[in-house]
Amino acid sequence: MELPAAIAETLRRYGQTHLVAGWNSLEESEREQLLSELESVDFAQIVALHARRREPAGALASKELRPLDFLPLAHQTAAARARWEELAEPAFRNGEVAALLVAGGQGTRLGHNGPKGSFDFGLPSGKTLFELQAQRLLHLGRRYGRAIPWLVMTSQLNDADTRSFFAEHGFFGLEEKDVFFFSQGQLPAIDEEGKLLLETPCQLALVPDGNGGVFRALERSGGLEFLKERGVKSLFLYSVDNAIVRVCDPMLIGFHLKNRRAVTCPVVRKANAAERVGIFVETDEGSCVAEYSDISEEMRNAKNVMGQLLYDGANLAIHVLDVSVAESAARESLPYHAAFKRVPWCRPDGAIVLPEKENAWKFEQFMFDVFPRFGHMAAIEVERSDWFAPIKNSSGNDSPESALRMLLELHARWLEKAGLLQPDDPRAFEISPLCSYAGEGLKGKKLEDLVASGDLIQA
Ligand code: UD1
Repeated sequence: MELPAAIAETLRRYGQTHLVAGWNSLEESEREQLLSELESVDFAQIVALHARRREPAGALASKELRPLDFLPLAHQTAAARARWEELAEPAFRNGEVAALLVAGGQGTRLGHNGPKGSFDFGLPSGKTLFELQAQRLLHLGRRYGRAIPWLVMTSQLNDADTRSFFAEHGFFGLEEKDVFFFSQGQLPAIDEEGKLLLETPCQLALVPDGNGGVFRALERSGGLEFLKERGVKSLFLYSVDNAIVRVCDPMLIGFHLKNRRAVTCPVVRKANAAERVGIFVETDEGSCVAEYSDISEEMRNAKNVMGQLLYDGANLAIHVLDVSVAESAARESLPYHAAFKRVPWCRPDGAIVLPEKENAWKFEQFMFDVFPRFGHMAAIEVERSDWFAPIKNSSGNDSPESALRMLLELHARWLEKAGLLQPDDPRAFEISPLCSYAGEGLKGKKLEDLVASGDLIQA
């Protein structure tokens, strides 16, 4: 096959003829593959992204940012919390709540080979992040007598591995029909001059387009239809790496329903100025997250008159939103955030280069950039130790070790509260999410019985 004239002309016009320099030495099937990849690239979009690669995107593109105000959960009475849970109950019973997991990322910082959700971070049970999340959903499904649909976004990098991991583990006890996988889009990585990179002689170097691709991918894959057919109204949108994520937390869902805002987010105070978390901000139009990789040093360290961090509302990557918001979001064009990263590439002679320093621009959309289009969100400050134990790095902060410690400490507090463990007891236990979702259901039981039934495992 000759290189079609139309694509040759497009490549020439956009200065990308290097991509077909090896065309004559490719096999026929390789030519077909390269051609189909080239035909799927929107070169005009790539030129525009390259031109704006150093410009602020998302919340930072707006001048008038203020820290977002949030309501501390600790100031609420137990009765108020119980009322929110009550409000959520019919929604669960009627099948109006679903979990939407974005799990298409590469997890490069952790260095785990495979989907991040398949990571075993050292729990006595050996449960992975996926299994913990599945069992929390199973628990709530049983409590309310209605299975909770779970939508899982993957990317080309991990789609097959994610699906087979679920299948090999019998969907962790969930019904296969209640899990909906879909894959996000990809974009070419480009070098400083705006030239696309090859990954192999017949493949472009493509990277996932960021978790903001979730809305578009949900629509394209039939995920929105799946949700509508089931009558789902509220989505619990979250990221994969939080070991204690309270998937579809009924109190948060009830808080969302009560406030009738399009979007609701839990918030924790930043641990310190350098913590790599997005921060909640707002303008007159609406609220949003300013991502840690985008904000200036000045904004990161800004203090109020009391000497506290001014922008200290940290994003846990948990967002509750109406399905109608996800549907409109699929039609919104979100900004792209550029990042200069190391991307392996293939030279025209076929040699693969593993760069020692950053060599390529990647472009990502962020899921929270759509929020300001839906006005002001409802935000509630929650206790970090109850809600947020992310696994990002292989050691130190936000690592498997810190997440394991936080989970076991949380479970120790639940057991103490139920009177099953004394505060000075040195033993640590892992509680199965099938037994307790958030510390309830333990009072009046015996530690030995829980251990014997397998609901508790000593660490
Ligand atoms: C994310 C948040 C950050 C928040 C932090 C809390 C975004 C853009 N940033 O940062 O504000 O404070 O979590 O832990 O949400 N993903 C995809 N496709 C992609 C890229 C990522 O599905 O193309 C998924 C990942 O699998 C993960 C989630 O999005 O589940 C978050 O991505 P990650 O890169 O881990 O974000 P952080 O930098 O940790």
